[in-house]
Amino acid sequence: MLRDRIRHKSLLDRVITADQAAAMIRDGMTVGMSGFTRAGEAKAVPLALAERARTDPLKITLITGASLGNDLDRTLAEAHVTARRMPFQSDPGLRKLINAGEVMFIDQHLSETVEQLRTGQLQPVDIAVIEAVAILEHGGIVPTTSVGNSASFAILADKVIVELNMSQPTTLEGLHDIFIPQRRPSRMPIPVVTADSRIGLPYIPVPPEKIAGIVISEKHDSFANVDKPDDDTRAIAGHLTDFLLNEVHKGRMGYDLQPLQAGIGTIANAVLHGFIDAPFHDLKMYSEVLQDSTFELLDSGKLTFASGSSITLSSEMNAHILPRLAEYKHHLILRPQEISNHPEVIRRLGLICINTALEFDIYGNVNSTHVGGTHMMNGIGGSGDFARNAYMSIFVTKSTAKKGTISSVVPMVSHVDHTEHDVDILITEKGLADLRGLAPRERAEVIIRNCVHEDYRDALADYFDRARARGGQTPHVIEEALSWHVALRERGTMMPV
Ligand code: COA
Repeated sequence: MLRDRIRHKSLLDRVITADQAAAMIRDGMTVGMSGFTRAGEAKAVPLALAERARTDPLKITLITGASLGNDLDRTLAEAHVTARRMPFQSDPGLRKLINAGEVMFIDQHLSETVEQLRTGQLQPVDIAVIEAVAILEHGGIVPTTSVGNSASFAILADKVIVELNMSQPTTLEGLHDIFIPQRRPSRMPIPVVTADSRIGLPYIPVPPEKIAGIVISEKHDSFANVDKPDDDTRAIAGHLTDFLLNEVHKGRMGYDLQPLQAGIGTIANAVLHGFIDAPFHDLKMYSEVLQDSTFELLDSGKLTFASGSSITLSSEMNAHILPRLAEYKHHLILRPQEISNHPEVIRRLGLICINTALEFDIYGNVNSTHVGGTHMMNGIGGSGDFARNAYMSIFVTKSTAKKGTISSVVPMVSHVDHTEHDVDILITEKGLADLRGLAPRERAEVIIRNCVHEDYRDALADYFDRARARGGQTPHVIEEALSWHVALRERGTMMPV
């Protein structure tokens, strides 16, 4: 069995335990681990590291592709191993320590991390820990359910520990497309010209002598918690479909639309699910995370191809898809996240990008990361990579949160991730605001009319009226602009009195 997975014969004697691998990681090191949206993370070595820290405390900078599954971010943070963390996370336990100021979290556009590593702008990666499905005859590493930053970590690190996961099916082989951009200033264009362009290798090229140890593991990826579409997300999907149909009727695109990108989370997944009943066909995705909805669309025949950096599924979908992965081979590619999220490629392909906001303001600035302006939720992830470079940048959210006590549309966002310049369309279950070609004062009118919950609409209209009377390109009553957030903190609700 092992020989089937470790095909470079001389590497067979490099099999070690997770404890031995963890012992190679020393205090103060920067460690690059595989893992993207809870898919394809190394599982045994981080656990062994957290265990070791009980008797031999150490602190590391942990860089990954994106979030880790199997509660590993919580386990490492609570063991006080994670001193610094980048570029994304979504773990409630780690989130708590970030917001307490105990873990320094660097919230970064996902396409940028390896560019900064490659150019020495970040501390170099000492050790890469990469989950793999196989090591090939020449030492090349075949990743599992995500590529993320794994290829660059392995190429740039001094040493590589491979976690060979025997429970991941070998049918994953052939799915990956590893392309590393050349160094600047002599970099050539990235040759992705359609969502299905294959431009690289199906494995991570690493000299076998760099593989310092191989740890065998059997643990599965964590499953995604996918909420079923509800009335609100169905309404959001309906507004989006009507809007896109109108674009087709105006002759701006065909029924195959432009390639789609959809963000993480239950809302984006549910909205994408809505395309199953829409009249579009021959759709393509050039996205980051391939969630349940991607496979539902592939199964329905609506979607013909999906390019991403990871596959993150619910347990039901996982049971349905993994045994049949070979059937999807010609319809899927997994790429490094700097390619799936590359500004050049996003702009070239002309993506329709659908991401989720926590809140947006009357001018179209979007907060996707900071609750109440101060407390980190997950991170910006790839939403900024996509929104800024999109053919059409769409943000969706329900009009209220926490049982109606929070309006998702506020006078001024308490933190800005996506500026008004990066946002074309806003959608809540109440309706859609098409902001293209509108000046801030016009944007406010359409947002307040179409997107706001009725409990908050009059108060927001009143705010805008008083702000407008004061003048300005983007009028505000500055001393009142964050008063809705203050009310939430002090009264537990933004609801007007
Ligand atoms: N203020 C405070 N909390 C809010 C809020 C607001 N304005 N709006 C939503 N929330 C809370 C919800 O109540 C929910 O809380 P819970 O976990 O306690 O139930 C939580 O935020 C998540 O919101 P939900 O409505 O379930 O949406 P989601 O699962 O679709 O996630 C984001 C929304 C914004 C958190 C998520 O999409 C995200 O992290 N985005 C940033 C990264 C990104 O877009 N990556 C994709 C690029 S490809």
